[in-house]
Amino acid sequence: MSVLEITGGRPLKGMIRIQGAKNSALPILAASVAAEGVSVIRNCPELTDVETTIKILRHIGCEVWKDEGVLYIDSSRPIRPEIPDMLMSELRSSVIFLGALLARAGEAWISHPGGCELGPRPIDLHIGALRAMGAETDDRGGRLICRARRLEGGRIDLPFPSVGATENAMLAAARADGMTVITNAAREPEIEDLQNYLIAAGVRAAGAGSSVIYICGAGKGRVHGAEHRVISDRIAAATFLSACAGAGGEITIYDTEPKHYTAVLRSLRETGCELETGEGTVRIKSSGRVKAPRPVTTKPYPGFPTDAQPPVMAALLKAEGTTVFVENIFQNRYRHTDELRLMGADIKTEGKTAIICGVKKLTAARVKAADLRGGAALAVAALSAEGVSEITGLKHIDRGYECMERSLEELGAEAVRLEDG
Ligand code: EPZ
Repeated sequence: MSVLEITGGRPLKGMIRIQGAKNSALPILAASVAAEGVSVIRNCPELTDVETTIKILRHIGCEVWKDEGVLYIDSSRPIRPEIPDMLMSELRSSVIFLGALLARAGEAWISHPGGCELGPRPIDLHIGALRAMGAETDDRGGRLICRARRLEGGRIDLPFPSVGATENAMLAAARADGMTVITNAAREPEIEDLQNYLIAAGVRAAGAGSSVIYICGAGKGRVHGAEHRVISDRIAAATFLSACAGAGGEITIYDTEPKHYTAVLRSLRETGCELETGEGTVRIKSSGRVKAPRPVTTKPYPGFPTDAQPPVMAALLKAEGTTVFVENIFQNRYRHTDELRLMGADIKTEGKTAIICGVKKLTAARVKAADLRGGAALAVAALSAEGVSEITGLKHIDRGYECMERSLEELGAEAVRLEDG
């Protein structure tokens, strides 16, 4: 079993390039199935979630290869619209292939993505959107079968701005007959990035980033391969800024887009950290003894992102005062708090709310990641704990962060990945 050993208690110093956005790369790789031809994807992060998505692309009949960090996908050949259970269970967000497979092949066979570490992950909004475009769905013993002889453009009113449901609707609309209007759409930067890829692939689309997205379906054979550079990962940026806020020191992150995470920057400024944003850069300076910010309430974009809640919480464990978190997006996103308490954190959770009372000191401990961003929170906390912490469950962290130990080393931390007995 791999263990990430982090020696905490010292300020960070250095600079780090922020990776391409996982939550942009995954839907764009799925979208390449709707495009017949070769797509060239730059700045795609090296993550296990991306590797799993590549396995799915190959399984359904795409050719995928890498050359000097650039990912090539050739989806010219006929597509096999079926994702095996094993690959669906490895990556629940592969539900995003639904829209692309329907658009390309007129059908999709997937297993229910099921719940995940964050709680139940229903897909009713995805199904509702696809049905609104003429898809028929059938649930056979855990397998979801979607079929659509013809996808008809129409109006899709999302009851909740679900990121995945918005993306599936966009991908189905890309080759539907006529115009589709998606209202109450998710507004995340990753949605805009997906729209930009679709436009490059020959689809007429507009409005992404706002709550109303317009897509005019391009007929068969008119959605072609496209070149695209994935945007920077705003949650990775929030994670490394949180690491410095908690441990103290001064770091600069680059190849980042600060306007994609203004709510996180606002909370970090409230803690007393010095933050300076430039062209693709953010510099943060922290004494390591920060102040508790105003309550942190997670919301759909442009509100405070749920994915940044765990790492920002970890940065505030020794803050002066008490911080209140309210997690409105996922039911079970406080699993990292049990592990943080092993380091001496004073955290009380009740339903959606977590109360963090700042403590004087954190002590290193052996802790286990239970999910991706919770694992990142353990690394952030270990950096400001005295002693050598050991983090296991690295498969969760590797899903969303390129080589966490190398990144922390680049920021002047002592971090090493060992094979543990
Ligand atoms: C995306 O998940 C991200 N994943 C998540 O990041 C992120 O936390 C989430 O958006 C919110 O920003 C990817 O992009 C691959 P949602 P997604 O549909 O699309 C409920 C990470 O750590 N819901 O906006 O699944 C759902 O249960 C991951 O990188 C329904 O009820 O998020 C949740 O409570 C974690 N029915 C809420 O909406 C549905 O049909 C938000 O889900 C769909 C969602």
